[in-house]
Amino acid sequence: MKNLLLEVKNGIAYLTINRPEKLNALNFETLTEIETAFDLIESNKEVRGVIITGSGEKAFVAGADIGEFLTIPAEEGAGFAARGQAVFRKIETCSKPVIAAINGYALGGGCELALACHMRVLVDTAKLGQPEVNLGIVPGYGGTQRLTHLVGRGKALEWMVTADMISAEESLKWGLANYVVPHSVLISTCEDILEKVKSKPPIAVAEVINAVNGYFGEEGFKSEIKAFARCVSTTDFKEGSSAFIEKRAPKFKGE
Ligand code: COA
Repeated sequence: MKNLLLEVKNGIAYLTINRPEKLNALNFETLTEIETAFDLIESNKEVRGVIITGSGEKAFVAGADIGEFLTIPAEEGAGFAARGQAVFRKIETCSKPVIAAINGYALGGGCELALACHMRVLVDTAKLGQPEVNLGIVPGYGGTQRLTHLVGRGKALEWMVTADMISAEESLKWGLANYVVPHSVLISTCEDILEKVKSKPPIAVAEVINAVNGYFGEEGFKSEIKAFARCVSTTDFKEGSSAFIEKRAPKFKGE
């Protein structure tokens, strides 16, 4: 795969998003590769758990690829969000526990990727957030639902409408992080969790995940797709994405 590294060692699948020059931003190709990786992981009986991380020093994943945003026709906003939701749903419904090892920025689609994982372990310098409003859109890969579920409506709304970055300390306080650790023990902390899982019966573990996922209703995810589609048809969205690429402040008009 071009943008992913996948290695299986001692019953753990290590998945690394590998586009460090773009801070591991998720383009269409990477999304498809994640889907393929999870098909392989699901069918490999040797794998008892998964660790996802980002390559390079700076980022887990800095979002969906904003360069590609400019290529989305207005009428395809719903399809774009539905595609990302489907791939992330595959992670969430994986029958083996998936841990996001967050080694830096996890923003936008990167934060949503982390939210779709079953657990999150952060380095103490990590920065999370859903800054989509800065681009004139809403989170479209499940973030409005999963962040709200995890931290509650008030804080999730605040973070999503202000686009504030969330420190590791805040993440721990609000239940967004399972653990915050120094970089040197990021992966070993995830491995320690999965070592415990490896001694448990695979069917019971899979059924815990299945039952926990039962909490989510489909309606919320559908509303998110509609909201994303509406935003994609606005001029503010074109302005927000262009401004990021052109490295300037956006000028929003409310249309
Ligand atoms: N999509 C596409 N490219 C991205 C990206 C994204 N989400 N995030 C970063 N990049 C690219 C930058 O354009 C830059 O590319 P260039 O070197 O070709 O110009 C490269 O990655 C490095 O990013 P840069 O912005 O120069 O790093 P920084 O350290 O100054 O800032 C961030 C880091 C994470 C604060 C900043 O990159 C950022 O705000 N990214 C977008 C976050 C976001 O809005 N995500 C939500 C999208 S859904």
